Amino acid sequence: MTDRTAPSPLVRALIARPVLAATDYPAPDPAVPADPATLFTAWLLDALAADLPDPQVLTLSTVDAEGRPDARVLVLRDVDRAAGAWHFWTEPDSPKARQFTARPDAALTAYWPGPGRQIRLRGPVHPSPTCPTPSPALHCYALHASTAEFWQAGPDRRHLRLRFSRTGAGWTTTGWAPTDIPG
Ligand SMILES: Cc1cc2nc3c(=O)[nH]c(=O)nc-3n(C[C@H](O)[C@H](O)[C@H](O)COP(=O)(O)O)c2cc1C
Repeated sequence: MTDRTAPSPLVRALIARPVLAATDYPAPDPAVPADPATLFTAWLLDALAADLPDPQVLTLSTVDAEGRPDARVLVLRDVDRAAGAWHFWTEPDSPKARQFTARPDAALTAYWPGPGRQIRLRGPVHPSPTCPTPSPALHCYALHASTAEFWQAGPDRRHLRLRFSRTGAGWTTTGWAPTDIPG
């Protein structure tokens, strides 16, 4: 008879592979920059210099006409620090482009496992006509961040989180603060 209380092979494999178990995560610079694009750029340059696999591939989340979330990965093409805008290319008749054209609310999420870093950006997506693309079939769009969250893993689960919110002229920030993840 099957033992229904025994953990499945999947559950056993997941338990055997703890998340964020490293001890050498980078300590964040306590001097917080004035805008999130500066810190995003520094972290992405770190990830590129460390040869992490495809660190410029981010998850873009959108909302469809029925209000249901949708998400997929795509390649980040540039960050406009002055505008607080994250550029990417896609086809204008793709489902994602139809979604953010009808309802611009979107999110971009990065996770870099080696340094234990997550970045969450939220804001509207708009066409970015001045950004070049390799083909007329691809259009450039930009997520204009209204909020940004930086998450840095620490040893012994001493994780830190930093939030930015756009104000009229600039950004307000919480500074680095302890946070946690369940489990
Ligand atoms: C590593 C990787 C990079 C991708 N880069 C892009 C990209 O830059 N632009 C894009 O439109 N789709 C890109 N895609 C494909 C998207 O994930 C998605 O499948 C496609 O754009 C259709 O999404 P949609 O149906 O939500 O419009 C990439 C997929 C992968 C796995």
